Formats: sequence, C-alpha cells, structure tokens
Amino acid sequence: MNFRKNILCIGAGYVGGPTMAVIAMKCPEYRITVVDINEDRIKAWNSDHLPIFEPRLEEIVRQTRGVNLFFSTDIKKNIKEAEIIFVSVNTPTKTFGQGAGMASDLQYWEKTAYQIIENSEDPKIIVEKSTLPVKTAQAMERILKESKNHLRFEVISNPEFLAEGSAVRDLIEPDRVLIGSHQTESGLEAANEIVDIYAHWVPREKIVTTNLWSSELSKLVANAFLAQRISSINSISALCEKTEADVSEIAYAVGTDSRIGSKFLNASLGFGGSCFKKDILNLVYIARSYGLTEVADYWESVIKINEYQQERFVRNIIKAMFNTIVDKKIALFGFAFKANTGDTRESPGKHVAKKLLEEKAILSITDPQALDNARSDLAGADGNVCYEIDPYKAALNTSAIVIVTEWDVFKSLDYGRIFENMRKPAFIFDGRNILNHRHLFKIGFNVYPIGKPSLTHFEKS
Ligand code: UDX
Ligand code: UDX
Repeated sequence: MNFRKNILCIGAGYVGGPTMAVIAMKCPEYRITVVDINEDRIKAWNSDHLPIFEPRLEEIVRQTRGVNLFFSTDIKKNIKEAEIIFVSVNTPTKTFGQGAGMASDLQYWEKTAYQIIENSEDPKIIVEKSTLPVKTAQAMERILKESKNHLRFEVISNPEFLAEGSAVRDLIEPDRVLIGSHQTESGLEAANEIVDIYAHWVPREKIVTTNLWSSELSKLVANAFLAQRISSINSISALCEKTEADVSEIAYAVGTDSRIGSKFLNASLGFGGSCFKKDILNLVYIARSYGLTEVADYWESVIKINEYQQERFVRNIIKAMFNTIVDKKIALFGFAFKANTGDTRESPGKHVAKKLLEEKAILSITDPQALDNARSDLAGADGNVCYEIDPYKAALNTSAIVIVTEWDVFKSLDYGRIFENMRKPAFIFDGRNILNHRHLFKIGFNVYPIGKPSLTHFEKS
C-alpha cells in the first residue's frame, strides 16, 4: 500500500508507544514506525505482551500493527525514509557533573540529533515529544544545521500531556494539543503538517499553535502547576492532622470554587511518576541559571513538601506502631506511583518500602501490575520482602496494611476477612484516603488516614 506520509518515532517508551499507536489508528493513510535502541522493548512491542500496560492500548496495537504501525530496531533506514520524526527518548534528571540532580540529561537527545543528520538524505520535520528545557530546540537546530548535505530541518515542539493509566483516553480526547514552531514561513508550514495529523480526530479549536519557546516552557509549567496543587493540599493535610479538620472536606469546599476547580486536590502520601519531580527540578535549574533565585526557591518548595509528606507518612506509621516495627510484618497495598499503571518510577511506595526495611520491618507487597518493577526496585532486600498478587495472602499474619496506590481492587476487599487473619492490634494506614475508615474502625482496625483524625481503639493518653 502507498502511504501518504512516513512518520517515525524514536523512543518506544511510555510516551512514544501509545502516542504512535493512536496516531496510527486515527490516520490510516500514514505509515508510522517506532524505533528504539532497546531490542527487547521492540520485541515486546511486536509480541502479545506489550512492554507497558495502558487500558485499551493492546486492542489498538493489535488493530494497527503490521497494517500502518511498525516497530523496528533499524533506526538508520527508518530515519532515511521518514518525512516527520517524533523524538521521545528519555530525558532523565542528570546524575553527574554540572547540574547533577537538577538539570535534564540531554545526552540521548543529542545523540539522536546526530543520528538524524548522519542518516538523512532529505529535509525533515523534527518534533520534540520529550519534555525538554526551554530553548532545547535552539541547541538541536544548531546540531541539525551541521548536516553534511546542508539539509533543512524544521524543529517543532509538541509536548505530551498524557498521564499514565489514562494515556489512550488523553490522546483520543485531549484538553488541547500544543504545537510550537518558529513564526517564520517554513516554521509555520511545518507546524501545519503536525496540525494536519491531530486534526484527524482533535477539534481544530483544541489544537493550540504557539512559538517554540512558549510551547517548551508550557509543558514544564503545566506539570509544575499540577504538582503544586498536590503539595498545597498535602501541606494542609499535615495541619488537619493537628487540628481535627478533615482534608477531604477542605478539598471539596475549596474545589467547588469554580476559579479553583476540584481536580488534583486529593491528599496523598506524596506524588510520584517520572515527570513531576524531574520537570520541576528542571524549571528550578533554569530559573536559577537566569539568576531568578526567588522563582527557583518557590518551585523547589513544591518538591520539598512532597519529600516532607513521604517522610511524615513513614514517621506516623512507626509512631503509631509503638515506635518500633522491628520484625513486624507489614503489607503494602500497591507499589505503582498511581493506579492503572505498572510504572514505579519515583513511586512514593519505593520510599516507604525502603524506610520500613531500614527499620527492620518485613514486607509483603501486593500490586495488580507493578510487582515485577517492585522486585527490581527492591533487589537486594530479598528475604525481608515477599511479593503476592493476592491481597488476602499479602495481608496474612501482618500487623499493618499500608495503602500506597489507589487501585480500585483495594476498595472492595473483604476487610473483615483480612482483619481475622492479621495480628492484633491491627493497623491500616490509608495513604490515599480510599477506604471507608469508619467501617474499618468498626471491624476492629486502628485507622490512620491522611489529613483526618485517626480512629483508634487505644485509650487516649
Ligand atoms: C517520556 C519523555 O520522552 C520524557 O521526556 C518525559 O518527560 C517522560 O516521558 P518515556 O516515554 O516515559 O519518556 O520514557 P521511556 O519509557 O524511558 O522511553 C524512552 C525510550 O527511548 C526507551 O525505550 C529508550 O530505550 C529509548 N531511547 C533512548 C532510544 O531509542 N534512543 C536513545 O538514544 C535513548
Ligand atoms: C503527569 C501529568 O498529569 C501529565 O499531563 C504529563 O504528561 C506527565 O505527568 P502522570 O505522572 O502520568 O502524568 O500522572 P498524574 O496523574 O499526573 O499523577 C502524578 C502523581 O500525583 C501520582 O503519584 C498521583 O498519585 C499523584 N496525585 C495526583 C496525587 O497525589 N493527588 C492528586 O490529586 C492527583
């Protein structure tokens, strides 16, 4: 079949894979290829066991793979054939040298830019899908200008706003699609080509076009604002625990103000995921590098509150369990950084598990999707951790249950049955406020929610 355009995506991760699958489904006349340096990942994309779990993803890949969606490790050939190249390689926080722990590590991006110029014979549109520091496009353009045959590469910024667990829905029904380009004739022309792709299914008024730098910075700012809301409500949860106010009631009262809105006000044991911390650190680093100390400090406090919340949660567990958890068996319900994903990057669960292990607790971890990742995250702690897909088995003979992830399945368990098979006194620490605390208390549990009064059977001292 003759396709209208050849689109390539470099990087078959959480962003590249689902994004290209949805584009393939919505644009049957385009040939979409996804390449990756990781052979195992590509093998998995070509198998029945996709490398990532996202609701509906499997069905879409099954429908398009081999028709107009292809996964390959042949990066050179596919660069040569592509007219539009999306780049969604990872951009982790730098772990070495200047900007370590703060700045983005752009080495994969840079390598990719060199790969593109080395293997191109025609001009191409390069689309930044990865989240990048503002002004990265400029650096990319400088590299791309060095192509041996003086080809023109137009760089477009098209940041991803998909959240894990709802990636397919976010792609199919986005709040907006953002496309940034130079405001030159060729820049606008290239932006239009990208608009054309999304216009297959996204209403035109939801496709926002802007300049390159606003687009790059908008992505960092969007994530920073979202994380800031969580840190704001989490900071209030600490105050609630001191004053007998209820953080859920406050979130509701505040969120019904239409100027504020109700989303992202769920107090928790802290936010996780590959993006929030990394993007805020990046924003902080950029602000500092321009001498904007107050701006940098302001955003850095969002991360500090998140760390404080995780520490506080663990401290509360230990304190409630009579200041010692040595040899006590504790079940972690959930390990993924949020529900509906197996991803554990920056998961608060990891932090909680490590701290509890340092205090010599024995853990049994249950999670419907994240047990493989949990195993590799906690490698070395074998002997003190066991992994159980069945929550009832995970809770057997434990003294406490810690809710880490807000999986639906944890909401509908028979906690009466669980309580029967636990050591007494039995504790529940609900790090997501998803359970019916009064009901649990009646069963006999000592219940510790986030930002609400605890319900215990102990006499007040
Ligand atoms: C994405 C974005 O790219 C990142 O900037 C954003 O902030 C988070 O989401 P994600 O898809 O989650 O990253 O990353 P990951 O799942 O690690 O996928 C990146 C893929 O790129 C990996 O499969 C990796 O093997 C591949 N890669 C990396 C290449 O193909 N070439 C490289 O040179 C480097
Ligand atoms: C985020 C952004 O939402 C998305 O637009 C961007 O493209 C990538 O980063 P993601 O990290 O997948 O997506 O998950 P998100 O749903 O934003 O949740 C991030 C973390 O915040 C999770 O740990 C979640 O549990 C936590 N969270 C979220 C809360 O603690 N409270 C809330 O009210 C909402």
